[in-house]
Amino acid sequence: MLRLQAAVTPYPVEPSDAGIAAAAGIAVGEVVRFDLNTLGGGPLPGVTAALAGFDPGAALEYGDPSYAQLRVRISELVAAPAERIVPGAGADELIRLITTMVAGTGDAVVILTPAFPMYAVEARLAGATLVEVPRRAPAERQSVADIRDVVTATGARLVWLCTPNNPTADHYPLEEIAALANGLPALVAVDAVYQEFAEVSLGLADEALSPIPLQADLPNLIVLRSLAKAYGLAGARVGYLVAPEPLAARFDAARLPLPIGSPSEAAALGALADRAAARARHAQIVGERDRLAAALARLGCEVLPSVTNFVLVRPPDAHRLESDLALRGLVVRAYPDGPLVDWLRITARDVAENGRLIAALDDLLG
Ligand SMILES: Cc1ncc(COP(=O)(O)O)c(C=O)c1O
Repeated sequence: MLRLQAAVTPYPVEPSDAGIAAAAGIAVGEVVRFDLNTLGGGPLPGVTAALAGFDPGAALEYGDPSYAQLRVRISELVAAPAERIVPGAGADELIRLITTMVAGTGDAVVILTPAFPMYAVEARLAGATLVEVPRRAPAERQSVADIRDVVTATGARLVWLCTPNNPTADHYPLEEIAALANGLPALVAVDAVYQEFAEVSLGLADEALSPIPLQADLPNLIVLRSLAKAYGLAGARVGYLVAPEPLAARFDAARLPLPIGSPSEAAALGALADRAAARARHAQIVGERDRLAAALARLGCEVLPSVTNFVLVRPPDAHRLESDLALRGLVVRAYPDGPLVDWLRITARDVAENGRLIAALDDLLG
């Protein structure tokens, strides 16, 4: 009865806090998630205030399906007209929207690996043919020339470029993004959900690394952003797509009417109202990331340079370290197979949480 005959490969779902606590025999409150790339340091003050002031009556009614206010705030953030912003329930929902709008049965979708797994999940659901362009080594980005060759050879309709890339923590400069999209007969979807951390890491101004201005010359470039990571709203599910006209209107017409619930919308407006607080938090996290990276290197791990809020590291025994840390309630991301099987991805969180992790690493690796 199902359209897809093959089994669906789901997103690799992480164990819950409760599951980890039960396996480790500790209290749920002792579990710290270094595996999800979320924002350490607690909610941003604007979010706390917005949710404290949220009128439950607003949840009784449907919200504004045009998201007029939210789009204006986002348009101020990214310096693009509100009409070119398409809201979604996190970047995840927009990955589905992009994929289903662009690719169908048998169409080629190009994915650079390793990268965020949802591009592949959605391409498979759409019945598209996945074309992977793997890295030769975790620290070696695929060249624009190689990617363009694969897109051309396969006649791909969609290519995903995650920059900064999850999980390798590096990024493509804007010139390379432009060179990739320029004249390519495919839609180039840039997933930039970690952009804010890269700007702080590289000492650049807000939005200095945004690919959005490139859209003036590149009608096939769409940009995916999220408030999940940099604005601490992973659980609220607020993402957005910035597309050139007339693509934006087409995507907007195809999205769900109300993907973002009213409490989440209020939280997003609260977060965006205080960008200075967000930037200060990014600076704090980037400093903590460097402290964590230095500790890991001192303890004999190979640490890839990072412009994000996480690091990719190769410890002497990744799986042993991951399970030893989990027994202490400290959850890091391991890879069961594939090119990163010997690596771990670790999110930098706040000073106290990172301190706990570094103490455990000292104990286990020192
Ligand atoms: C590269 C990348 N894109 C998208 C997402 C999903 O973002 P959201 O929580 O907004 O759906 C993630 C989350 O881990 C990610 O790492």
